[in-house]
Amino acid sequence: MTHSSAPEIQALFNRIAPVYDELNQQLSWGLHTVWKKMAVQWAEAAPGHQALDICCGSGDIALLLARAVGKTGSVTGVDFAPAQLAIAAERGQARYPDHNLTWQAGDALDLPCPDAHFDCATMGYGLRNVTDIPQALRELERVLKPSAKAAILDFHRPTQPWVQQFQAWYLDRVVVPTAEQFDLKADYAYIGPTVDRFPQGPEQIELARQAGFAQAQHYPLLGGMMGILVVQKAAANSVV
Ligand SMILES: C[S@@+](CC[C@H](N)C(=O)[O-])C[C@H]1O[C@@H](n2cnc3c(N)ncnc32)[C@H](O)[C@@H]1O
Repeated sequence: MTHSSAPEIQALFNRIAPVYDELNQQLSWGLHTVWKKMAVQWAEAAPGHQALDICCGSGDIALLLARAVGKTGSVTGVDFAPAQLAIAAERGQARYPDHNLTWQAGDALDLPCPDAHFDCATMGYGLRNVTDIPQALRELERVLKPSAKAAILDFHRPTQPWVQQFQAWYLDRVVVPTAEQFDLKADYAYIGPTVDRFPQGPEQIELARQAGFAQAQHYPLLGGMMGILVVQKAAANSVV
């Protein structure tokens, strides 16, 4: 089963929202939190920042951003699946009742955010799921302040054969059977095809440059099975 249209992707993430966090935890053996923390660090989120988390889902990364920006900053989480946003809002209220958190329904391809507004941004496992990656990168670039950084975490296809084999085994023999226990086998079978067609690190760098970013660097993680694309918007006075 492939999910290629935006309404299908939206329906998928609404459907899996109730078990999404527990499944993530099981499927990554808890490691996803480590990579999400790295993304927040590499976006250089700091106290007082206006931070954005695109495709925030149930709010994992947005809540890490909240810790980094503190009460003097603010975090906006954007997602187009209301069921995910409802969970994010609940978690945000429970964990950081005194922080400035906003959960906004919106499309990563047409962000409901002003130009040059955010000091930093993150996107976790979102870029692989959007229907137009260049447009998502252009939107990210538009809403960042000059010189601001963003970190985009996602799956990646490893180049070493034994790691490729491990990833294929992991997706087929761990992810799908685990999802089956939650009655979501078909829903989680979507991950493999999306990883297969997701641009590799060097292509991601090229797409980021085409979207207008001044700097772009891709860092493979876990033998290249994951990766973080770190992008930086041009400085205010630079001529592009
Ligand atoms: C795999 S989840 C990741 C959630 C969260 N960032 C995390 O790391 O746990 C992908 C999220 O992207 C959202 N999404 C996909 N395409 C989107 C789009 N075009 N606009 C807004 N949200 C989108 C889905 O609704 C889903 O919540």
